[in-house]
Amino acid sequence: MKKSFKIFTGSSSHLLGQKVAKKLGVKLGQAEITRFADGECRVRIEEEVKSGTIFVLHSTCPPVDENLMELCLLGDTLKRNEAKKLVAIVPYLGYSRQDKVHRKGECLSAAFAAKMIELSGFDELITFDVHSEKALHFFKIPTQNLSAVPVLCEAMRALLHAKGKTTDWAIVAPDKGAMSRARELAKNLGASAVFIEKERDLLTGRLKIKGVKGEIAGKNLVICDDMITSGGTLVLAADFLKRQKAAQILACATHPLLVKSASEDLQRSSIKEVIVTDAIPLPKEKCFPKLQIVSVAPLVASVILSSV
Ligand code: R5P
Repeated sequence: MKKSFKIFTGSSSHLLGQKVAKKLGVKLGQAEITRFADGECRVRIEEEVKSGTIFVLHSTCPPVDENLMELCLLGDTLKRNEAKKLVAIVPYLGYSRQDKVHRKGECLSAAFAAKMIELSGFDELITFDVHSEKALHFFKIPTQNLSAVPVLCEAMRALLHAKGKTTDWAIVAPDKGAMSRARELAKNLGASAVFIEKERDLLTGRLKIKGVKGEIAGKNLVICDDMITSGGTLVLAADFLKRQKAAQILACATHPLLVKSASEDLQRSSIKEVIVTDAIPLPKEKCFPKLQIVSVAPLVASVILSSV
């Protein structure tokens, strides 16, 4: 028997939600999300949610605190409207980089964010390419960390094909955290893998490359990361790889945060193309000619179907 479900979106994921709804042949749930003049968020659910599974699709991307609060208010309001099973689909899970106490006296923000989401009434959480799996260990509700690598891989394969370059590619992990993703992409594309050892000064944020493992000279390289924040990691890695006589350099990442001058810096860099997903919405002003956006909507649609 077909189970019923409804999908509500927060303001960071309306466009993605529309694509998902179209794929599934359903209408998005009606909610009114407004803000008071001082920025306080107000949520009102405009339809009946008492039966079936209720999904809330909303990335807690920048402005992270506003979006996290909006997610929590959506959850709480749906529970107050007597939703029975509430699933948060948070394609980008903000605060997941603060998964440990680095310096004595510091907050453990990933744990606190998990507590807030749970307290809002969610029964499950689904995310994509979370920065740190550890951030999910703070949840007591079931969580799933899905991989957007298959969609990045498909787009990358098409790009390489269009360039007539199907061999002699290597996938680069720009730091330790990116190694498993780079390995997965390399396996999918039949390429080799290169690992860069990166160090970030926690106080200044300054990046340094300490070493590299793998063949670079003459190779076409794809740098693969979970997120692009300031773009510093990609630009630093590309400059380093160029100095080591790499041929062409491309890049891909699931989450395009693209803060500060990331878009301009990437456009100016030696990276030829950058592929990202729509797990985070990108306003026009953050897009740049080298950027290609692929959609995680089919993955979200299929996880919804398999969860009801
Ligand atoms: C770091 O561990 C992450 O995986 C990314 O490499 C990092 O967040 C990218 O940040 P940025 O673009 O500012 O270098």
